[in-house]
Amino acid sequence: MPEQDIDLAVQVGPIAMKNPVATASGCGGYGEELAPFFDLSRLGAVVTKSITLRPREGHSPPRLVEVRAGMLNAIGLANVGLERFLAEKLPALARFDVPVIVNVAGSTPDEYVEVCRVLDAADGVAGIEVNVSCPNVDRGGMEFGTEAAALARLTEAVRREVTRAALLVKLSPNVTDIAEPARAAVDAGADALSLVNTLRGMAIDPWTGRPALANRTGGLSGPAVKPVAVYMVRRVWEQVAGPRGVPIIGLGGVQFAEDVVEFLRAGATAVAVGTANFVDPETCANLVDGLPEAMARLGVARVRDLVGRIDTD
Ligand SMILES: Cc1cc2nc3c(=O)[nH]c(=O)nc-3n(C[C@H](O)[C@H](O)[C@H](O)COP(=O)(O)O)c2cc1C
Repeated sequence: MPEQDIDLAVQVGPIAMKNPVATASGCGGYGEELAPFFDLSRLGAVVTKSITLRPREGHSPPRLVEVRAGMLNAIGLANVGLERFLAEKLPALARFDVPVIVNVAGSTPDEYVEVCRVLDAADGVAGIEVNVSCPNVDRGGMEFGTEAAALARLTEAVRREVTRAALLVKLSPNVTDIAEPARAAVDAGADALSLVNTLRGMAIDPWTGRPALANRTGGLSGPAVKPVAVYMVRRVWEQVAGPRGVPIIGLGGVQFAEDVVEFLRAGATAVAVGTANFVDPETCANLVDGLPEAMARLGVARVRDLVGRIDTD
């Protein structure tokens, strides 16, 4: 099968992506930071770092540490806040022909609702990805995403405001069964699911006894989490997303074209690339270049035909 005949296009809810490769939230800044390395218009979508209602400085350093087969981070949602994002960051993406998905975080449901309401009305926002892995200050710091009932209420509340853009809910892997929050988000009206966010972790210097991160704990990402993410995508696809026709953006350790194929087979319609951007900022462009060859080798002409296809005989 000639590589030029491969159709890479996929549809994530109402968002038409020219290929299944997106940036992952927080790993390519507001989007434009990756523009010196390749043309962002080549991507399926750009996902921004989490935007909150007010500016946040985030946690004190050190807030990133390399560990074996991955990375731990405790950035603490550092960002310029909604107002400056709309004035400076979002307009900078308008010159690229790529759907922009804005990731949103907050510490109360009202904060999420307000940010989503404003973004839904903004030009150039194709999708809103709700990051539910943030501590809910109304509930003593418990994450929204780890309790299905709280997640359902939050998703319903933002769904009422998000009437134009696609609504994606990004799930936390720090749960017993990822199918439960997935079902809650879909029942409450999510157009698509992104999974996974980072796995909670910790590193301690064995000789000094000091935690490696100033925040003590952080989120694990990179190659180490890929099998967990693939399993969770498969679980959600089988239990919720597949039967309901809800697309999944799969992420966690995606670095090579075969990783994209693996996530598609697990049930993802598209993938997002996080930690691998820190290894090579051209990773996303390399994936777009490498996918046709992988598809030709498989003899599958359309990327979307691979979604969910595993061989269990
Ligand atoms: C430095 C860093 C910052 C991140 N910031 C965010 C963020 O602001 N919002 C969010 O939803 N996820 C954030 N994430 C999580 C990633 O988007 C992604 O879900 C996770 O890292 C797994 O993918 P990966 O293994 O490809 O990095 C961050 C991850 C890293 C490593």
